[in-house]
Amino acid sequence: MKTITIGSDHAGYGLKLKIIDHLKNDLGWDVIDVGTDNENSCDYPVFADAVCKNIQNGVTELGILICGTGIGMSMAANKHRGIRAAACSDVFSARLTREHNNANVLCFGERVVGYGVACDLVDAFLGATFAGGKHQRRVDQITALEETER
Ligand code: RB5
Repeated sequence: MKTITIGSDHAGYGLKLKIIDHLKNDLGWDVIDVGTDNENSCDYPVFADAVCKNIQNGVTELGILICGTGIGMSMAANKHRGIRAAACSDVFSARLTREHNNANVLCFGERVVGYGVACDLVDAFLGATFAGGKHQRRVDQITALEETER
């Protein structure tokens, strides 16, 4: 069974519930939801960290993070080793970030995209495959920055 980790802050909570339903009932994925669990104001880096830890620990290969814009989540996620998170609001980018960047976390914002576009982003992201080749070399260069920037 395919399993994905998902997280949101309060600003992405409502959309997260709908995306979990889409993942389970339309796409047949198992979902690990690391929170938040309500609409009370909270801090998005906490949930970005929880999703990224699951990927770093091999619990799931992929993750989804939803906040107001998707931007804060992607910034926090990209502080983690081995995480390549992309904030997307169009389907082309959601597909290409897996094909070219081998992204392992998709981020988007409930205040930016509606339910229909969000489902299309998820479908494009999960339906795409890393192209490898010259893109592998570039992803390796991104990974190397994790060492040289420390
Ligand atoms: C919360 O108000 C908002 O700042 C957060 O959800 C996100 O959009 C940050 O990037």
